[in-house]
Amino acid sequence: TPRVFSGIQPSGNLHLGNYLGALKRFVEWQERDIESIFCMVDMHAITVWQEPADLTKATRELCAGFIASGIDPERSILFNQSAVPAHAQLAWIFNCVARMGWMQRMTQWKDKAGKNQQNASLGLFAYPALMAADILVYHATHVPVGEDQKQHLELTRDIAIKFNNDYEVDFFPETEPVIEGAATRVMSLRDGSRKMSKSDPSDMTRINLTDDADTIANKIRKARTDPEPLPHDLDGLEDRPEARNLVNIYAGLADHSPAQVIREHGGQQFSTFKPSLADLAVAKLSPITEEMSRLMRDPAEIDRILARGAERANGIAAPIVKRTYEVVGMVGA
Ligand code: TYM
Repeated sequence: TPRVFSGIQPSGNLHLGNYLGALKRFVEWQERDIESIFCMVDMHAITVWQEPADLTKATRELCAGFIASGIDPERSILFNQSAVPAHAQLAWIFNCVARMGWMQRMTQWKDKAGKNQQNASLGLFAYPALMAADILVYHATHVPVGEDQKQHLELTRDIAIKFNNDYEVDFFPETEPVIEGAATRVMSLRDGSRKMSKSDPSDMTRINLTDDADTIANKIRKARTDPEPLPHDLDGLEDRPEARNLVNIYAGLADHSPAQVIREHGGQQFSTFKPSLADLAVAKLSPITEEMSRLMRDPAEIDRILARGAERANGIAAPIVKRTYEVVGMVGA
């Protein structure tokens, strides 16, 4: 039976990339009535120092973002990673299965650690083994993510295969990455060669789910573009990363394909296209923003939702860890 798992880090604001690449996709899985488990990965967030009060707030805000985007905490399981010990338990086993060389090849590790790898946390290096544990501790079969997580999901498969080989079992499934939709890689609004990201120092590069309508419109108006009008076919977007990005964002928000967007808007100047895009973005995002701030007024309720989710998640994960310990030969498992 299929089972979906995905996670988002509670670090900084949710942005349009997280929404189109992840949250909006998650809702589609839930609507197809496939068992879905969604996690605020707070243990991943602390691989880079987080102010404790900020981590707490970001975790609750992320939970509010999931719900405001359409995740129903009754139909799906919604919880924070640290509340289910099985993640850390399986991660240790996987630390002993994965190889240093595999980790060293991860582009996210290279980007995030930068030049001074000696000073990065050991947790940042081991990050993908914890991520594999997140997924495999539920024997999840489908993992919807944005393009940037592809390499980590390949590593998850490698870990599952090596564990099964090393212990001569057929225990962990080979999970399927699901990287779908028009906006699997939303780019910065100021530089079409860079990914939209929470860590970009300039807030003008991204649309946050907490931005108000004026801010969204202003960021889209100021988005970098080239001087040409939109082309009449998709090939015309080649070598025009900024134009392509705005078309993809439009497509993602409107639930159209990029080809449909070009059919409707091809030939338009950006002075015409950008206001349409801004209207669409505000129409789609402001209900989410409003619902998030409404939910944030009752943090105790959010904590109850997360605690209930953790209980349900634990019910699935704890037996899988127990079985893993037995396979490994641990006494008392
Ligand atoms: P994170 O928190 O960086 O991002 C959460 C999700 O948003 C997607 N995403 C994007 N999609 C399109 N365009 C963008 N510019 C963009 N930026 C981010 C990400 O691909 C992701 O799907 N390691 C993960 C969290 C994680 C996880 C997991 C995911 C931990 N354990 C297990 C899946 C399964 C991360 O840092 O995502």
